[in-house]
Amino acid sequence: MSDTYDKVIELAKRRGFVWPSAEVYGAVAGFIDYGPLGAMMKRRVEEIWRHYYVIREGYYEIECPTVGTESIYIASGHVKGFADKMCECPHCHEYFRADHLAEACGIASASHLTREELAAAIEEAACPGCGEVFGKTEVFDFNLMFQTTIGPGSQRKGYLRPETAQGIFTDFSRLSRFYRMKLPFGAVQIGKSYRNEISPRQGMIRLREFTQAEAEIFVNPESKRHPNFGRYADYAVDLWGIEQQQQNTDPVSKTMREAVDEGIIANEYIAYYLALTHDLLTSIGIDRNRLRFRQHLPDERAHYAIDCWDAEVRSERFGWVETVGIADRTDYDLRAHSGESGDTMTVFVPFDEARTEKRKRIVADMGVLGPKYRGKAKKIADALAETSPGPDGAEVTVDGETFFIPGDLYTVHEEEVEVRGAEVMPHVIEPSYGIDRMIYGVLEHSYDEEIVEGEERRVLRLPACIAPVQVAVFPLVNKDGLEEIARTITSDLQDARILADYDDNGAIGRRYRRQDEVGTPFAVTVDYETKETGTVTLRDRDSMEQVRIPAGDLVATIGSLIRCRTAFADLKQ
Ligand code: GAP
Repeated sequence: MSDTYDKVIELAKRRGFVWPSAEVYGAVAGFIDYGPLGAMMKRRVEEIWRHYYVIREGYYEIECPTVGTESIYIASGHVKGFADKMCECPHCHEYFRADHLAEACGIASASHLTREELAAAIEEAACPGCGEVFGKTEVFDFNLMFQTTIGPGSQRKGYLRPETAQGIFTDFSRLSRFYRMKLPFGAVQIGKSYRNEISPRQGMIRLREFTQAEAEIFVNPESKRHPNFGRYADYAVDLWGIEQQQQNTDPVSKTMREAVDEGIIANEYIAYYLALTHDLLTSIGIDRNRLRFRQHLPDERAHYAIDCWDAEVRSERFGWVETVGIADRTDYDLRAHSGESGDTMTVFVPFDEARTEKRKRIVADMGVLGPKYRGKAKKIADALAETSPGPDGAEVTVDGETFFIPGDLYTVHEEEVEVRGAEVMPHVIEPSYGIDRMIYGVLEHSYDEEIVEGEERRVLRLPACIAPVQVAVFPLVNKDGLEEIARTITSDLQDARILADYDDNGAIGRRYRRQDEVGTPFAVTVDYETKETGTVTLRDRDSMEQVRIPAGDLVATIGSLIRCRTAFADLKQ
């Protein structure tokens, strides 16, 4: 029997939302094409994401290449550590993720097991491909990055980016100047990321090329208070914290203020983006009863991260699917890129009040230094002024050469200086969204079937703000001038940037069903009364109710409905 996944994917393929890529050549797992309606829906979801992050939060969007040089991914740790544990079936030679096989054998959190532990865990398991028992099998690391070469020959190694985040980190210094060196600031990026997943068998959930929308927010480590925390302080979210997971109890509903005050969420920034993510996901059609936030357990959290939560969306077939990750990554990324590139990646943070500090300043004795170091003496004196002396002397580096200057070649002055601030390496708060998983979640949660007048009605109850086609326009019959009126209405709506679909094909009931199935929220019908009174019927997809309104009001009314400023029910009053 088919489940909701089968039904959604069948509809998605048939009606032009998504389908496997390059099917004519035998599609390769992990790559999908968005068809005409899917690509439009994806744009709308991305625009809503931009509304939250770029317009409301003020984090400007940047666009970096999808190919990066090796040094970026050495610094980020991906070259060394971005691997899944894999095994090959000794019978059919298919490759599998060893942790997935172990989890299918009932082992929880198998991704934390060592290679040897995984090999032992799957010894008795049957291969999902051929059904034979694995027996003794080697488990090995497989790096998920797609490697390439840059330029002709193979002089320069490159990688397709495995996340959009790294472009924002490598641009840090330019971004901090753009934001006039004032923390907090952030930048976002929406684009393709690539991971050579071992055996992607979960449709849109696990892809080899997918779209991420990531925000990297740079904050002062001493002050993790979001300037607009009040916006979400009283917003309640279902939290499955470490305690509830360890005690195997249900998630608890907490406001963000409570969660921070009780120490469940590490700081206001994480709490703020958790609530914002809940707000965003439910506004695009994720069912709030199939959404929860799960905190990473201490042994699953990256060693440098302070706190990390996943927004998980419930799927009938796949269970709870991680769709968004929200993490406090400390200064790990900037420190790593600063170390590899030599760029300082700090921001000057002024103190609330200037402080007086005692400093030792070295003043070189140029009478001795000059003849001894000749042309380099001035540079050495300048370098000495910036260094702290040891007990016997001071070490300085000038033009790549290191000099030890004995204590009798300078004097040390102790002086009081006014210090106005400090160079700080910011911490990074990162909300990271998987757009394809969001879209699958919305399709599954909005899919519905019901019997209407003895016939099955399949409907995608997409929120009007993401529906690909925003309104359908039908002439009741194709004669007596009704088509011309309907075509004029369609082009008036299109001129107002509303995606209106003119359809005069088949019985009116069939036309409604076709639009219901692709989630078109409203339909306008032009009938004989339109010719007499200038009014049309406007039908609501979900309730199937109709109201009569003047054709001249359509642009304003539909514009207001799709921006959720008016509810259809309000039109009946
Ligand atoms: N910069 C952090 C980062 O990339 P991640 O948890 O690896 O974190 C973030 O990825 C999101 O990207 C996930 O929550 C998921 O929605 C999406 N994602 C990751 N791998 C994916 C894949 N193979 N196919 C589809 N989406 C994926």
